[in-house]
Amino acid sequence: MELVTRSAEETRQVGRLLGQEAQAGDLVLLSGPLGVGKTCFVQGLAQGLGVEEPVRSPTFVLVTEHQGRLRLYHVDLYRVDDPREALDLGLDEYVEGDGVCAVEWAEKATPVFPRQHLWVQMEYRGQEGRLLLLRATGTRAERWLEDLTRRWEGAEAEVSGGS
Ligand SMILES: Nc1ncnc2c1ncn2[C@@H]1O[C@H](COP(=O)(O)OP(=O)(O)O)[C@@H](O)[C@H]1O
Ligand SMILES: [Mg+2]
Repeated sequence: MELVTRSAEETRQVGRLLGQEAQAGDLVLLSGPLGVGKTCFVQGLAQGLGVEEPVRSPTFVLVTEHQGRLRLYHVDLYRVDDPREALDLGLDEYVEGDGVCAVEWAEKATPVFPRQHLWVQMEYRGQEGRLLLLRATGTRAERWLEDLTRRWEGAEAEVSGGS
C-alpha cells in the first residue's frame, strides 16, 4: 500500500492509526533518508498507544522505552554500521518482546529482524510531501495494514467531504 502525507501532522496521523490497533509483539521497520519523517511517524505511533511523554529521536542512546497501553521500544540504528552491532545491543529482545517495537534506519540491520513485520519506506515528495510505501509480511502485519488502509481512506474521504 502507498500513501502520500502532506504535513508532519498527517504522517503522525498514520502512525497514530497504527498505534491505536497495535498488539504486543508488533514490529514496524522504518527506512528512508535523514529528515524524511521517521521519528515523526513514531511520535504518532506512541500517541496511538497512549504514551504521554514526548518522543524524540533516540539517535544517541539507540533505544528508548515509553509506557502506554503497551510498552513501546523506539530503536534508532543511525549509528550502527554492521547488523551484528544490532544483535549485540540485544535488539532481538525488544523485537520479540512483550511490547511494540519501532526501528528507524531498519535497512542497516535487515537480516536481524523476524519475518513478521510492517515495513514503512519513506521518500521525499517535494517540501512537505512524503511518500510512504507500506509492506506487511506475515498474517498479523497484513491485518494491521488492512485496518490502517481502511481507516486512512475513511479519514481522507471525510476531509474531502465524503460522497
Ligand atoms: N509530510 C511530512 N511528514 C513528516 N515530516 C514532515 C512532513 N513534512 C515536513 N516534515 C518535517 O520533516 C521533519 C522530519 O523529521 P524527523 O521525523 O526527525 O525525520 P527522521 O527521523 O526521518 O530523520 C520534521 O521537521 C517535520 O516537521
Ligand atoms: Mg529520526
